[in-house]
Amino acid sequence: MGHCEAFMATECASMRAPAVADAPDLHALVKANARYRHIIGNTPAIIYSSVPSGDFRLTFVSENASRVLGYESQEMLDDANFWFNHIHPDDIAGIFSSLAMLFVEDQKVYEYRFRTSDGSYLWMHDTLRLIRDGAGKPLEVIGLMTDITSRKHMEDELQRQGEEQRKLIAQLKMAQAQLMQSEKLASIGQLAAGVAHEINNPIGFVSANLNTLGNYVATLLEGIKLYQCILGGALPREMADAQVRSFEQRADLAYLSEDVTDLLSESNEGLQRVRNIVQSLKDFSRTGESNWQMADLHQGLDSTLNIANNELKYKVSVVKHYGELPMVKCLASELNQVFMNLLVNAAQAISDKGIVTIRTARCGNRVSISISDTGHGIKPENLNRIFEPFFTTKPVGSGTGLGLSLSYGIIKKHGGHIHVHSEAGQGTTFTIELPIDPANVLTPDCVGDPPGGAS
Ligand SMILES: Nc1ncnc2c1ncn2[C@@H]1O[C@H](COP(=O)(O)OP(=O)(O)OP(=O)(O)O)[C@@H](O)[C@H]1O
Ligand SMILES: [Mg+2]
Repeated sequence: MGHCEAFMATECASMRAPAVADAPDLHALVKANARYRHIIGNTPAIIYSSVPSGDFRLTFVSENASRVLGYESQEMLDDANFWFNHIHPDDIAGIFSSLAMLFVEDQKVYEYRFRTSDGSYLWMHDTLRLIRDGAGKPLEVIGLMTDITSRKHMEDELQRQGEEQRKLIAQLKMAQAQLMQSEKLASIGQLAAGVAHEINNPIGFVSANLNTLGNYVATLLEGIKLYQCILGGALPREMADAQVRSFEQRADLAYLSEDVTDLLSESNEGLQRVRNIVQSLKDFSRTGESNWQMADLHQGLDSTLNIANNELKYKVSVVKHYGELPMVKCLASELNQVFMNLLVNAAQAISDKGIVTIRTARCGNRVSISISDTGHGIKPENLNRIFEPFFTTKPVGSGTGLGLSLSYGIIKKHGGHIHVHSEAGQGTTFTIELPIDPANVLTPDCVGDPPGGAS
């Protein structure tokens, strides 16, 4: 007798006991039997028992097996290998390899695919419990099989969606990197005209100076030739005197010697300006340095100012209040891109003439850089939108609306914060706060959220 049947018999016998003294309570017995049959046959789980060895031949299967699996109970009992034979070949090895532990742990739980009568597979959650006799000898195994196919499908679907999301995130990351690169190129492109102008200007006057110096050299060579002739005695005295006088009048030697010195120093200064711009361009883009490095943020700000000079110089006076800053571990060219966007935004917010103030300070193991302008400010309704990608209030074609969203991403990547405080008509201050070492970001903030600010 299987355990279930044994269990039912014991239950029924206990009910029968008081009746033995009087009359056998057959009615109660039938009622109990029917109740247990109903319960076992109608639970969501298929209840079965099997021998506790070898092929685990089934000795009892609840009726609901036919509803779930499509097999009649008898058919399952008749086939000595029914259980093993219907487990999916891919799942059987995992069960085989650990089934022996049932005799150590007394219980095992498996999830496997089980073949139904129509040849399809259902996912089953199976709890096997070993029943022992009083001496501890295994008597039988009782199993509870529950159909978990829909849960498994849901898990598969979730996993598929998770996988898709992971792929999407990777694609987004790549798109963001490309976007950053193209925004960098766009901002350099936008500034290229200004930089070209900055370089063209000194080159223009240096080449004009060279022209003049060339004329001066020709005059001086002419004078040298004249003096050589006189020294060689090739000219009569009076003629020589007249020629020298005429030459000195033409050449205006006093003015020439003064002007040569001016032209040379002006040209030197012009070339120095070109050299500075080229150096700033190199510093700004930090070509070949895409890794984290210790960088001087003041140098980054200065080289960015040099490049943005053409955008700024006609209407903006830049005031610097640089504090003592340590070297900061950062991606320098990316931070320069942030400075560039904030400076250009500041300049663009000033319609006529105004001031851009740059402040830097250290606060414990963080640094802060703020860029304030006396421009038109940001309307309160836009304050929470300015960091959104593609949000721009600038005319079509003049702003992509990516500057601040990319800047936000760069600052976050450095473990920092960016705050804005703005009053319409008064001006705007952006404050960046960065850890000196991004590995160490769990320290109190240098700056709190300014009133009315967004971050
Ligand atoms: N200093 C500022 N003063 C006033 N408004 C600002 C300032 N900085 C940003 N803004 C506002 O935030 C918006 C978004 O700035 P963001 O730098 O992201 O894009 P953009 O400057 O419009 O375009 P892009 O930087 O791509 O050329 C701007 O269009 C402007 O409305
Ligand atoms: Mg911008």
